[in-house]
Amino acid sequence: MRTEQPKVIYLKDYQAPEYLIDETNLTFELYEDHSLVHAQLVIRRNPERAAGDSGAGLPPLVLDGQQLELLSLAMDDRVLGEGDYQLDDSHLTLQPVSSQFTLDSTVRIHPESNTALEGLYKSGTMFCTQCEAEGFRKITYYLDRPDVMSTFTTTITAEQHRYPVLLSNGNPMASGAEEGGRHWATWQDPFKKPAYLFALVAGDLWCVEDTFTTMNQREVALRIYVEPENIDKVQHAMDSLKKSMRWDEEVYGREYDLDIFMIVAVNDFNMGAMENKGLNIFNSSCVLAKAETATDAAHQRVEAVVAHEYFHNWSGNRVTCRDWFQLSLKEGFTVFRDAEFSADMNSRTVKRIEDVAFLRTNQFAEDAGPMAHPVRPDSFMEISNFYTLTVYEKGAEVVRMIHTLLGAEGFRKGTDLYFERHDGQAVTCDDFVKAMEDANGVELTQFKRWYSQSGTPRLQVEESYDAQAKTYSLTFRQSCPATPGQKEKAPFVIPLALGLLDGKGNELPLRLQGEGAAQGVGRVLALTEAEQCFTFVDIPERPLPSLLRGFSAPVKLSFPYSRDQLMFLMQHDSDGFNRWEAGQQLSVQVLQELIAQHQKGEPLVLDSRLVKAFDTLLGDESLDQAMVAEMLSLPSEAYLTEISEVADVEAIHAAREFARVTIGEALYQPLLARYRANRALSRETGYIAEAAHIARRTLQNIALSYLMQSGKAEALEACLEQFNDCDNMTERLSALAVLVNSAFEQAKADALQRFAEYFKDDPLVMDQWFSVQAGCGLPGGLERVQELMKHPAFTLKNPNKVRALIGAFANQNLVNFHRADGAGYRFLADHVIALNALNPQIASRQLTPLTRWRKYDTSRQQLMKAELERILASGELSSDVYEIVSKSLA
Ligand code: TRP
Ligand code: ZN
Repeated sequence: MRTEQPKVIYLKDYQAPEYLIDETNLTFELYEDHSLVHAQLVIRRNPERAAGDSGAGLPPLVLDGQQLELLSLAMDDRVLGEGDYQLDDSHLTLQPVSSQFTLDSTVRIHPESNTALEGLYKSGTMFCTQCEAEGFRKITYYLDRPDVMSTFTTTITAEQHRYPVLLSNGNPMASGAEEGGRHWATWQDPFKKPAYLFALVAGDLWCVEDTFTTMNQREVALRIYVEPENIDKVQHAMDSLKKSMRWDEEVYGREYDLDIFMIVAVNDFNMGAMENKGLNIFNSSCVLAKAETATDAAHQRVEAVVAHEYFHNWSGNRVTCRDWFQLSLKEGFTVFRDAEFSADMNSRTVKRIEDVAFLRTNQFAEDAGPMAHPVRPDSFMEISNFYTLTVYEKGAEVVRMIHTLLGAEGFRKGTDLYFERHDGQAVTCDDFVKAMEDANGVELTQFKRWYSQSGTPRLQVEESYDAQAKTYSLTFRQSCPATPGQKEKAPFVIPLALGLLDGKGNELPLRLQGEGAAQGVGRVLALTEAEQCFTFVDIPERPLPSLLRGFSAPVKLSFPYSRDQLMFLMQHDSDGFNRWEAGQQLSVQVLQELIAQHQKGEPLVLDSRLVKAFDTLLGDESLDQAMVAEMLSLPSEAYLTEISEVADVEAIHAAREFARVTIGEALYQPLLARYRANRALSRETGYIAEAAHIARRTLQNIALSYLMQSGKAEALEACLEQFNDCDNMTERLSALAVLVNSAFEQAKADALQRFAEYFKDDPLVMDQWFSVQAGCGLPGGLERVQELMKHPAFTLKNPNKVRALIGAFANQNLVNFHRADGAGYRFLADHVIALNALNPQIASRQLTPLTRWRKYDTSRQQLMKAELERILASGELSSDVYEIVSKSLA
């Protein structure tokens, strides 16, 4: 907490560290009212910085440290007194007398009262750590920066009875009992690592064990540790782990490197999970899953996060970041890796659709707002604020574009070279791109603008057909709007995957003017200029272009498709992603028309072509059911907001709800048929967690949600039957959500009450229960959420609860959050202020919706800004909250 303005840190100021730490020996003494940390650091002058040393003497050693109580300090066995060092609230400064020495320190810390969940803290009865990005400095005095890599030996001592399990990174070395009912264990990690990858866990935990045999026939012990009551929810994570390990060997040639790999699930965690070397620590929501308590989506999230953290062992740990500006080096690359893994394990097209919908709704909004920053930022106040959608998701798109431009084989050559060249090093995004260039003999200088320029490029496309010459030309114009600190942008390299369809929907062979022969159907053009024209020859008729297939670049593309053309693409495009995309564009056009009608006070009339398109989808039994479900889903209110110049919250909500009711009524019979067939299968087979069944349930549940729009008793009956008689959370929660959003007040109240009664002891299920209600767009939403905050299962101290209730309300319940009187804004600001004192990282994340004030009408803008100002004036702000509030008001 601070009152003065936090400092801005710039990438251009980067300097290699003055000192290195070769060895780190830690001893933790854990107690109920404090803990002691003894650190023995083997330090030496960084040779890279030592050039002019001789005359000038050694520079001071400046160690990071926050909220530490220094009890003793010694340098090479010489005990240091107060005159020998300087201490302030974030540093310990000493004057070394030789270029190599050992520093011993003891500090007292208070994990038992650490609500920020950074450093060493307690989650329930268990001790655990979270050190990324700069949490290790809350554990001991250290060079807490990722380019200082050290081997760690860690001894933990604790009361045997309360903390039978003592874990840290690497391999277990020794353990034993101590007097007074205490015991100890020592772990050693042979791999050098930065302090952000350090981890410690102590608790009463059970584990599920398994083994994995690596490609070189090494046996690795796998252990997933959870609190005893959760031991029946671990198998899915274990299966996912083994699949991830195999996949990384097969696709990237990467083998695991220690004899043991551990995952620990904790209930209180700021993010999804953390890739600590050999000891991943997970938010329990990203590990625990079984049919009865976790939805299909939750199962898939567990699979993806387990994979993500495992993949970091190479993309992050073995090769790490030089500084935090390079965060996307590990995160963008690892998100790309986990997305490809999920695509291989499930439906590739559906995975891409989900990721693109998420990116366009959320990252595009970030890129258009006050916090817009490049994938590799140039500056920050608080690094925790830069674990963003831009660094993660857009960063992954940037890696995907390299993959698209080089092809799978060229990309693999690049990653092989990258891992070989930089194993054991802390490197930059430039080093990653250089490996891609060197391995493929290509130049990516212009491409690297994706790392340095913020904002979402726009790509306007025009066509012209010359029937005489049988040529078809596409003209591309790219531009990128100004973003904070970046007025002018230079052109990006945009990989544009496309195909041309003839009147029957067949792909035309593609030959560009000047090329000898057609290069097959479908190809990737590399756009490099602000304006560029490509002419295809031998095109016998005016074709229909399918552009940006698979969303080959994170841009906003516009092409003047008619609604009939979009319907044609929906049916005929050979690219599944673009079939969905055509449906989305059609829906957007139709919904925007309804929005305009609502604004003019006209009666709403839905374009019947949308109904017809959905009818066709429902009738086509040959289509992948997951695709049908995706295509029947209308664009979200959040996406409609993002693409609006000025978002009219009420009109968007009214238009979308009107469309849903109209579709539910018009297609009642085919929806009911699909629903019944799928529900019957669910009953017949019982829950099966496989892709085909997940697809079937998704379609079943979207059908149910439309059927309930009709308000028919028959629909209610079906919904209640599903709610009462299913064997899994996917069906149960969908039925509950549909009920909550319906007008069947009695059935809704009963279902909510019975659900809560049954699952009251399962915090992750209660999170779902909170979310479903927080997201309900019916009138009175704010009051319902305020009431729920009094529920005994709710607490501001648990990030999952905050996200489930406050987060779901502010992000998914747009009509209620954006109430015209500003009560939703006041509610959010009140809790941001409360959270600022408890957990700054969570406080600053919850702020996001308020920072988007420029999207709304002037009255709402005033109300939102007033709340931001009130937060700013509320007293001692964390650097986390200060940065976001001040930048969004600037
Ligand atoms: N590196 C983590 C990941 O896999 C991110 C993370 C986990 C994190 N916990 C954190 C970042 C706490 C900042 C603060 O994506
Ligand atoms: Zn990550």
